[in-house]
Formats: sequence, structure tokens, C-alpha cells
Amino acid sequence: MTTPSGAPTAQDQFDEQTSRRIEAVYLTPDVAAQRDKVMARLAPREGEIALDIGCGPGLTTLGLGQAVGAAGNVIGVDIAEPMLAIARQRCAALPQVSFSLADVTALPYEDAHFDVALATQVYEYVEDIDLALRELARVIRPGGRALLVDTDWESAVWASSDDVRMRRVLETWNEHIPHPQLPRILKQKMERAGFHDVQVEIVPILNVQYDPQTYSIGMMDVIGGFAAGRNGLSAQDILDWKADARLFSEQTGAYFFSLNRYVFTASR
Ligand SMILES: C[S@@+](CC[C@H](N)C(=O)[O-])C[C@H]1O[C@@H](n2cnc3c(N)ncnc32)[C@H](O)[C@@H]1O
Repeated sequence: MTTPSGAPTAQDQFDEQTSRRIEAVYLTPDVAAQRDKVMARLAPREGEIALDIGCGPGLTTLGLGQAVGAAGNVIGVDIAEPMLAIARQRCAALPQVSFSLADVTALPYEDAHFDVALATQVYEYVEDIDLALRELARVIRPGGRALLVDTDWESAVWASSDDVRMRRVLETWNEHIPHPQLPRILKQKMERAGFHDVQVEIVPILNVQYDPQTYSIGMMDVIGGFAAGRNGLSAQDILDWKADARLFSEQTGAYFFSLNRYVFTASR
């Protein structure tokens, strides 16, 4: 199934295999460092009630659960069951953490229920951003905090011996979500949805060595899995694209990837 913009639905994208791939990528030091920054910016406090929207494999949910402690409460919601299964397992030892299958545009919680809510790499997958932001604003109490992280894939700089193929792959990857350039419009949309003091900062990912334990090399499986068979890119094109990253780095000694993620923090 596809969304009105033509991107596959999140339920279709996050099957068991892709969910495990994303988990592996999100366990790399690159994304762990991003989580540390996000947690420092949100600064969840002991006893708070927190919502992790589009919780995925539950890595951020776990951090939130540890931060709010036994006196607090954390709910992770996601629309993909395979992700929820991984998240439930990850957080099983924390009774203050629970999970629920829900869509970000219809959160099954009362008005002003949460002290804090965050969504990292989620809203870019959602067709109706305004509706999702109104739901976010509705469930956070006045004075509560929100944090959103999204990527602008046009900020990707990825060295290759074949720049034309690299561009084709990245342009095809843009089609996996309805909003591949969401950060450009998110601040204004958050303000219109009722958030105050919206602050924006960049969390860059920079890889300067070919290393499977990095975000960019890990994402090659996810991006390649999506791009193969679309826009005239064959499975062999994708194999060649992946092999080139290694060969190019061996031949030139100059592997290079950078990407900007944008962190939005705001008060309700
Ligand atoms: C790239 S993953 C990010 C996971 C997690 N937030 C993290 O940063 O570790 C995106 C997640 O958003 C979820 N998602 C996408 N659209 C959603 C929607 N409409 N409602 C709930 N979850 C959604 C996906 O199922 C997936 O688990």
C-alpha cells in the first residue's frame, strides 16, 4: 500500500527484516551519540510521564524509562508491530515502560496527559503533518516539552566513483517518505500547532572511514533494499553501488559521508 504522496506506508516499510536492519543501524555509535544529544536536550526528569511517538526498536524509550525512573511512566507508540515486538523485548525489565499500537495522527490519550513527548525520525513518514502536530500539542500538558528529529536527505554528501548513480539512488530513496525535506517547514508548522520557543539545531552524522559499524554503511542495506527495482535501478545496480563504497575507499583512502539531522525543541 502507498500513502497519497506515493510513498509506501510505514506498516509496509517496517516489516521484520527492515525493523531489524534499522535496529542494527540505530545501535551504531553514530546514532547512539545522536540519542545522547536528544536526551540531553529533552532532559527528562524523575517521575515524569513521557511519550515516545514512533518508538521503533525502543532504544530511546529505554533511555526515557531509565530517566523517569520507577516513579515515572513512559509509553511508546508505533504503527508497525515488528518494531513494537523489538521494543517490548528491549524494555521488558522496566515496569514503568509500556507500548501501544497507535498512529501519530490519532493518539489514544487524554488531553494534556504527558509532561514530555518526542518523535525521532517519524514525522517525515506521516502524510498529514499538521494533524500529527495538533495531536502532539493536544496530549502534552501546558508547560510540557516536545522534541522532534527529522532528516533533510538533500543534505547528504556521499563520495562515490559514480556520482550519477549515487544521485539516482538518493533521489529514489527520497521516495520512501512523503516529506524528505520536512525540517525546512517544521518550525513554522510547530508554531501554528500551538508550540512556543521552538529551537532548531543540527545533529550531523559524519563518517570518514569505510566501517560497517557506521550509520552510512548500515543504511546501505536499507536504502538499497528500497531502491532496487525502482526508477530503473536493478538489483545489480545496487550491488555495484554498495561495492563501490568499499572499492572507492580502498582506492582513494577517502570514504566520506555526511548528513544533517535537525532537532526541534519546544514548549507547550
Ligand atoms: C526510522 S524509524 C525511527 C524509530 C525511533 N523513533 C528511533 O529513532 O529509534 C520510524 C518509526 O516511525 C514509525 N511510524 C511511521 N509512521 C507512523 C505513524 N503514522 N504512526 C506511528 N508510528 C509511525 C515506524 O513504524 C518506525 O518504527
